[in-house]
Amino acid sequence: MPGHAVDLGCGTGRQARYLATAGPSPRPTRPRRPGSARTREGRAEPKTHCVQWRLADVTEPRQVDPGGRLGGVDLLLDNGCLHGIPDAHRRGWANIVRALAAPGCVLLVRAAPRGRRGPAPSGLGPDELPALLGEGWACGALPEPHWYRCVRQH
Ligand SMILES: C[S@@+](CC[C@H](N)C(=O)[O-])C[C@H]1O[C@@H](n2cnc3c(N)ncnc32)[C@H](O)[C@@H]1O
Repeated sequence: MPGHAVDLGCGTGRQARYLATAGPSPRPTRPRRPGSARTREGRAEPKTHCVQWRLADVTEPRQVDPGGRLGGVDLLLDNGCLHGIPDAHRRGWANIVRALAAPGCVLLVRAAPRGRRGPAPSGLGPDELPALLGEGWACGALPEPHWYRCVRQH
C-alpha cells in the first residue's frame, strides 16, 4: 500500500528496507459495470520506493526534522528503540511521534517490559505508551509478546 513510513531507531535499517520493498499490493478489484458482480483482476501498483536515512537522536525533534517538513506519516515503527531511551528523554520521542503522525497513523512499538536487570534496556510498562502519547491515540497490546499498536484518532 502506498504511504509514508518512518522507522525510529532503525539500526541497520533491515525493517526500513523491508517496508520500502514490501509492495506491490494489488489494487482493490472493482465491478466492470455499475451493478455488475464481475470484477477485473487487481493490477499491481507501480513500485515507488524511496528510503531516506537520517542520523539523528530520536528524542531531538530538531535533529529528526530540522526543517519541520516531515509529517503526514502513515506508519511509525519503533522496534526496540524507545524501551532503551532514558525516562527523562522519552517526552522528546513522543513529541516526534506526534509531529510526524498523520491522522489514522499506526504506531507499532516493540518494547521489553520494565524490571529487567543488568545491561538490558530499562523497558516500558503497559500504561506508559498511552501516557506518553497523550490524548488522541488509541493503544493496545498485540498478541505478539512486547508489541504495542497505537492509532492516531485525529
Ligand atoms: C535494539 S536496536 C533495534 C534496531 C532496529 N530497530 C531493529 O529492529 O533491528 C535499538 C536501536 O535504537 C537506536 N537508538 C537508541 N536510542 C536512540 C536515540 N536516542 N536516537 C536514535 N536511535 C536510537 C540504537 O542505535 C539501535 O540501533
